[in-house]
Amino acid sequence: MQEKKFNKLPKHIGYIIDGNGRWAKSRGLPRSMGHSAGLKTLKKIIKLSFELGIRYVSIYAFSTENWNRPDSEIQGLIDLFKKYLKGNSFVKDYPNTKLNIMGDYTKFPKELVDAANKTIEMTKFETQFVLNLGINYSGKDEIVMAVNSIIKDGLTEVTRDVIDNYLYTKGQPEPDFIIRTSGEQRLSNFMMWQAAYSELYFPDTLWPDFNKKELYKALKEFEKRNRRFGSIKEEG
Ligand code: IPE
Ligand code: IPE
Ligand code: MG
Repeated sequence: MQEKKFNKLPKHIGYIIDGNGRWAKSRGLPRSMGHSAGLKTLKKIIKLSFELGIRYVSIYAFSTENWNRPDSEIQGLIDLFKKYLKGNSFVKDYPNTKLNIMGDYTKFPKELVDAANKTIEMTKFETQFVLNLGINYSGKDEIVMAVNSIIKDGLTEVTRDVIDNYLYTKGQPEPDFIIRTSGEQRLSNFMMWQAAYSELYFPDTLWPDFNKKELYKALKEFEKRNRRFGSIKEEG
């Protein structure tokens, strides 16, 4: 349940989980070990976020550009995603949570697609929490996909609301806070439409080292941000 530690909390946090490779390299380990360590962190941070009462969490776990990495690294990531989604582990890890995949996950091997479909099916009636998992995700592609679906549906004019309704995040609040670890200060094609007014936070910490203390520090920073949305008034 929501702890009374913060005066205001984001409704929706986006995590760009960066720095697994550098974390491994700094320890003289293969990059794959960085990804395994990153997965452990991911499970903890998502859980903590939901426990704090944040109902929407979006994760950038694999971009369309990440196909440019060596085959062995891609295979390792696919194995981790499979493990993450297989069986009842997702349901056990995150009770009352709906899994929503962002990105064309059908491009992954069948075993992963099946595991994803099964978890989506098992969690489709959950309403308390939503986890948007970005795998083979690109914010620009998401907009292109939306526009193509709109054309197929015969619409000749759009509004912001129409576009919102064709995105993976249909019906959800936009991410009000995006955290990217590892010191990189860019979005790398994450939620290009939804991030229009997101508060951005770039800790130097590498993703596997991100922890409860770091999350609280981030949320304390969010508390201080004055979201004006173009007006001159303080947020109420
Ligand atoms: C982020 O860590 C995880 C994925 C992109 C899957 P990286 O693998 O990008 O780590 P660095 O940036 O090389 O340190
Ligand atoms: C962004 O990280 C994508 C994910 C975290 C999945 P990258 O490490 O791939 O991004 P760039 O290449 O540094 O922009
Ligand atoms: Mg990276």
